Amino acid sequence: MEILKFKSIDSTNTYSKTNFDCLKDKTAVIADEQTNGRGRFERVWVSKNCENIYLSLVLKPQNIRYIANLTQYMSVVTADILQTYNVQPQIKWPNDVLVNNKKICGILSESVIKNNQISGIVLGIGINLNMDAKTINSIDRPATSLNLETGQKIDKEVFLQNLLEAFWKNYDNAVQYGFEYFKKDYLKYVDFLGKTIFIQQRDNDKKEQYIAKNIDNQGNLIVLDPTNNEKIIYSGDLIY
Ligand code: BTN
Repeated sequence: MEILKFKSIDSTNTYSKTNFDCLKDKTAVIADEQTNGRGRFERVWVSKNCENIYLSLVLKPQNIRYIANLTQYMSVVTADILQTYNVQPQIKWPNDVLVNNKKICGILSESVIKNNQISGIVLGIGINLNMDAKTINSIDRPATSLNLETGQKIDKEVFLQNLLEAFWKNYDNAVQYGFEYFKKDYLKYVDFLGKTIFIQQRDNDKKEQYIAKNIDNQGNLIVLDPTNNEKIIYSGDLIY
């Protein structure tokens, strides 16, 4: 794996996408700070230099069948590492990682398309490791940071090394078998099944109410609508 480190950059995802063709498969692009950190649904990802993780992986697997599930694979790997700090991570479908119901990690995957074909993805992940309460409270949604949850400063290099090691350990299996390969581990961190939830689509203020029933073998969310009809949700923001 090649690692590219930047002190400050607009966004590790933007850099990886712009330079995708010249970057080798499995390159890790890491920054101490991002001036234009991006989240899902065109949201801002607060990326001040506070010893947090801002990482993008350039992935060009031969088998692209399950490429969309790599975000969920990354969420499981992150939850596994967080758990070693004696916190109890939760995964909020599809791939947010929370601690105490507050977001600690966000994942943004962007496909790179050439000649109408997917040539790979940039898998970006931001993990709040060391932030002060004031910065956390300035975020417009419930958020937290590992140092605030544990009461101790987190060694970013150690966390990063463990994260990358764990990610590559089962990467080939995740690519080959998709969500089914790590479904059992994913479900360990899910606590919204059986509850009333709301789904909001990116370009829509409307929140649709359902009961979360299950996660299927492709990583989609199975819900019951208010008339008890089953529906599969393929994308969106889960609120509960
Ligand atoms: C989300 O909205 O939950 C996804 C947040 C993803 C943030 C990471 S930080 C590293 C990479 N570079 C970006 O600009 N975004 C991702």
